[in-house]
Amino acid sequence: MTFDEIIDFRASNRKFDPEVPVPAEVIEKALKHATLAPNSSNMQLWEFHWTKSPEAKAKMVEACLSQMAARSAQEMVVFVTRRDLWRKRRQWHLDWIDKDAERIGDPNARSIKLRRKYYGSLMPVFYFNDGFGLMGIFRRVTTFFVGLRRPIVRGEGHAGQRISVHKSCALAAENFMLSCAAQGFHTCPMEGFDAKMVKKQLKLPRGAEINMVIAVGKGTKEGFWGPRRRVADEEVIFRH
Ligand SMILES: Cc1cc2nc3c(=O)[nH]c(=O)nc-3n(C[C@H](O)[C@H](O)[C@H](O)COP(=O)(O)O)c2cc1C
Repeated sequence: MTFDEIIDFRASNRKFDPEVPVPAEVIEKALKHATLAPNSSNMQLWEFHWTKSPEAKAKMVEACLSQMAARSAQEMVVFVTRRDLWRKRRQWHLDWIDKDAERIGDPNARSIKLRRKYYGSLMPVFYFNDGFGLMGIFRRVTTFFVGLRRPIVRGEGHAGQRISVHKSCALAAENFMLSCAAQGFHTCPMEGFDAKMVKKQLKLPRGAEINMVIAVGKGTKEGFWGPRRRVADEEVIFRH
């Protein structure tokens, strides 16, 4: 398929063909493609949970309010944000920086110093929270004053951090869906689920959040709810 054909093919389907299973390799490949999505500072604060066993899948159907797309899905993958893993990911970056410094034989190279500053000093400022919202206020106030003199990424509180990880996770979800499409399978992204139930079923910690659940299968004609309508381009595309 050409890129245009893949974009065309990826349409939400809510009634998958019960006779056509999705080969495991299709999901494995789509998951790999999901991991290659762009994401904020390459922190990869996401997880992809494939409910493979019939038991896990049945529980997920229930958590997805037994909606048709879930009920008829051959496979389901849950996209999860893991803002709480920022320290672990930061350390992963710092370890790579050490290895790269060794590889190039210069621990004081400009690129090494910049990356060490970025992940060593800046990431904690971005991701650290004290539980009282004080760090959020600190970030907002400091960036407000710096912003009087020059452009700066405005500091945010907890809500801003959540938006950031959900943005990246949704991009991974789109990679996953396009990959399924390129391999001849349809998908339906779902936010109609009981997040508490999904978290419990996947045994996720408090810091994890459900971004979306994606149902996969071979779409049927009835599964497409009419033509893919969009508002006029003039309403959403602006050229400045
Ligand atoms: C974040 C998100 C949540 C969605 N949740 C549901 C859902 O719970 N159930 C459903 O049937 N479709 C759901 N959809 C699918 C949308 O309804 C669909 O993408 C939209 O109507 C556009 O149609 P298209 O995907 O065929 O282009 C969701 C889509 C997104 C991106």
